[in-house]
Amino acid sequence: MNGFTAVILAAGEGTRMKSDIPKVLHRVCGIPMLGHVINAAKKAGAGKIVVVVGKGADEVKKAFEGQGVNFVVQAEQKGTGHALMQARKEAEGDGIILVLYGDMPLVTAESIAAMVQFHSEHRPAATVMTARVQDPTGYGRIIRDKLRVLAIREEKDALPEEKTINEINSGFYCFDASLVFEALTKVKNDNRQGEFYLTDVVEIFNKEGRDVLAFEAADPLEISGINDRCQLAFAQKVMQKRIIERWMKEGVTFVNPDTCMVDVNVTIGRDTIIYPGVLLEGETHIGGGCLIVGPSRIKDSSIGNNSEIIMSQILESTVADGVKIGPFSNLRPGCRISEEVKIGDFVEIKNTSVGPGSKVPHLSYVGDAVIGRKVNIGAGTIFVNYDGYKKHQTMVEDGAFIGCNSNLIAPVTVKSGSYVAAGSTITREVPEDSLAVARARQENIIGWAEKRRKKIKEEKIEGGIRNNG
Ligand code: UD1
Ligand code: CA
Repeated sequence: MNGFTAVILAAGEGTRMKSDIPKVLHRVCGIPMLGHVINAAKKAGAGKIVVVVGKGADEVKKAFEGQGVNFVVQAEQKGTGHALMQARKEAEGDGIILVLYGDMPLVTAESIAAMVQFHSEHRPAATVMTARVQDPTGYGRIIRDKLRVLAIREEKDALPEEKTINEINSGFYCFDASLVFEALTKVKNDNRQGEFYLTDVVEIFNKEGRDVLAFEAADPLEISGINDRCQLAFAQKVMQKRIIERWMKEGVTFVNPDTCMVDVNVTIGRDTIIYPGVLLEGETHIGGGCLIVGPSRIKDSSIGNNSEIIMSQILESTVADGVKIGPFSNLRPGCRISEEVKIGDFVEIKNTSVGPGSKVPHLSYVGDAVIGRKVNIGAGTIFVNYDGYKKHQTMVEDGAFIGCNSNLIAPVTVKSGSYVAAGSTITREVPEDSLAVARARQENIIGWAEKRRKKIKEEKIEGGIRNNG
């Protein structure tokens, strides 16, 4: 079945999205809707993929650079037939052309493969994927004679009795690649929308005595198109359910799947438990045996096995095995957290590596640092990385202990095995195995409080006498 060419029509305006972004670039479960269609075509065995772009062509091309997709531009949107015609040079030949619409991301590779299989067994001029739906409004209606499709009538051009037909055109077709372009030259735009309809080739083939067959979609949900933001949300919901169910079948527990968001490229290991309100976005990989409690957001990050993330955010970072994060930690981009580390409550950490077994348990800002093994960063420690002009690095070597409420003014190094006394402001290197104290020395003035109380008492008595006299 290999070697068919997929042509994806994606040049339409998408007016109803009310957007400055081309419609097919709006995201569903983390990637542009067109990406889902391309992936389904690839997975179904398409040897070549041609995307017809129009509105925002450059943006669309850029979004799919390096993904093995060919683009042709339809400068003016004159209809779906005119759109396919633009791919003539790229797609005409001996084989099969599969046509898909770029705004229908719920189509699955399995359905496409099944239709291509059906088409290659029967070899008609065209196969149309159809679906029976409750409400056919807005779709092209299938006019049939048993297995054969005689015509597809657009809603706007349909007669009242044709409008009652509830079998619709999905917008997915297989064509004989040596026939369809010739047929397209015969399509006229004498319809209510003044467009060259791809669907008109069905009648043209019939007139030529060729076969057009219907192939019913297994699941009508697959052919839901996206024209506005409500349909975008609907597609997100359907796909989200599919993705989460897939991971549940792989052994992941979702306590309340309806409250979670998992993008299409996320992977999750078995026996990981995901509580309500967890968002796993972009290229995120979660190991096995983890516990993630929401609200949490993990984006473009990888988490090892048996780690715990409680009510935290992790962006563009890597976290190893057996790590505990949160509650309320914020890991900004560029963190590399080694095994058995603890990043505790109200800790913000950025562009920092933390060595095995180290702890940053409470209330700290850690930026641009390299922290060694078994380091303890006391509560309230601030890594002072920014001088208002440049960012600087702090090194805290193996086994160091930073007392609470210290400031480490970068660039600075705390060498291995040394201590920083609580409340210190460190501006110079702390040598190995030493103690740095950098705060005003405490002085006790004996009896000062007693004297003060006595003085206040005397002043009150004097004042009383004056007021009474
Ligand atoms: C189309 C079908 C209709 C079917 C429905 C399924 C036609 C004439 N009608 O109607 O039978 O039930 O899809 O959703 O094909 N496009 C271009 N260039 C154009 C016009 C459209 O690339 O000049 C692309 C659009 O970006 C979109 C797709 O073709 O991805 C479908 O176009 P759209 O205008 O949405 O067609 P419908 O009216 O929905
Ligand atoms: Ca449409």
